[in-house]
Amino acid sequence: MDRSILEGNPHLVIEGMVIAAIAIGATEGFIFVRTEYPLARKHTEVALQHARNHGLLGKNILASGIDFDIEIVRGAGAYVCGEETALIASIEGRRGMPRPRPPYPVEKGLWGRPTCINNVETLANVPIIIEQGSEAYAAIGVEGNSGTKIFSLVGKIRNTGLVEVPLGIPIRKVVYDIGGGPLEGQKIKAVQTGGPSGGCIPEELFDLPVTFDSLTEAGSIMGSGGMIVIDEETCVVDLAKYFLTFTQEESCGQCPPCRVGSRAMLVLLDRITEGTATMADLDKLEQLAGTVREASLCGLGKNAPNPVITTLRYFREEYVEHIEKKQCRAFTCKQLITYTIDEERCNGCGACFRVCNDDAIIGEPKQLHVIDQDRCVHCGNCFVVCPPSLAAVVRTSGELTRYEEPVVKAKKG
Ligand SMILES: Cc1cc2nc3c(=O)[nH]c(=O)nc-3n(C[C@H](O)[C@H](O)[C@H](O)COP(=O)(O)O)c2cc1C
Repeated sequence: MDRSILEGNPHLVIEGMVIAAIAIGATEGFIFVRTEYPLARKHTEVALQHARNHGLLGKNILASGIDFDIEIVRGAGAYVCGEETALIASIEGRRGMPRPRPPYPVEKGLWGRPTCINNVETLANVPIIIEQGSEAYAAIGVEGNSGTKIFSLVGKIRNTGLVEVPLGIPIRKVVYDIGGGPLEGQKIKAVQTGGPSGGCIPEELFDLPVTFDSLTEAGSIMGSGGMIVIDEETCVVDLAKYFLTFTQEESCGQCPPCRVGSRAMLVLLDRITEGTATMADLDKLEQLAGTVREASLCGLGKNAPNPVITTLRYFREEYVEHIEKKQCRAFTCKQLITYTIDEERCNGCGACFRVCNDDAIIGEPKQLHVIDQDRCVHCGNCFVVCPPSLAAVVRTSGELTRYEEPVVKAKKG
């Protein structure tokens, strides 16, 4: 969403920064943009040049005696560089690593000087507030959470994209009215807000208003403004593992709770999704999540356990099913899925035999094929290629069996 603001209307951000500079007496401003966003950089550079040409940036702005200019700094795509002290280190040319606070950047920031750090969307709101008046802005949204917020609405819904909504809008309205609800034949299960450091909010809580406080109360965060909608086809344990894999890789490695703790959490999640975990592992995972959250140095580590903590809070039974029944109800965790061939349906076409990379399928042409469970690596290729008219490959996970109905095509004419 920040990228889209810089690509679509960088003037708003520049104006917001000039107003902020006048407010705090700053002479230098920096826009930190990921190097992977060349269009955002290009458009911002053009807008900066236009502002300079019109005397809105540089020395003695509009003969006011105020000097202020803005520089674009390219960040090389490290997630942790969004953390404010790491961001400062990166601009100073050092490795992007957070440092303990205090001192906060407002006291001791860039090159030791007082520094105000704000998000692109925050700064883009400033000219609008000044122009329309704070009362007009506060009239949008709810008490304590005024104005609008842009979300990147994606996942298992009909309409995806960037949406700007008044704060306080119920999650349900965003997901069902704006997002258009579930895909055909599916049921929405939850929404992950706040990006990889955020949390998973179940469908039962969709009447919650989208505010900073209610999301935090639900165990998530507003964060980057991401909203990823998931349905019953998504395994929440796998989802938590996916996000933790990301944050663990992005850990700067400086503090042990984040570096070692998130790695240890991942090992436990691997065991759960592979069906080798015990209930004691689940306790350990929960305990570790709490420690990483409490003891990490910066926001990356503190928020990294959020996907695990929230999925444990709202979908604990799915973790237990993985452990006790070796069952993944979404049929996502490969090691927990067994493939067999239905002898009534198999016609020996050999499609599965040809795609099996591990010689786990045995059978002669036009005769029943069987899967050698000792050799099977659960890749699922056989299931994918088995002709829908036969649907002879059956998936089982724990107590659940997925028996697809053969698709019979209507004959021509
Ligand atoms: C790991 C991590 C990554 C972050 N990434 C971003 C980011 O990409 N963009 C951003 O504006 N803020 C990011 N933040 C938050 C900023 O550090 C900072 O708090 C925020 O930009 C302050 O602006 P605001 O008060 O206007 O929201 C991140 C924080 C952490 C801990």
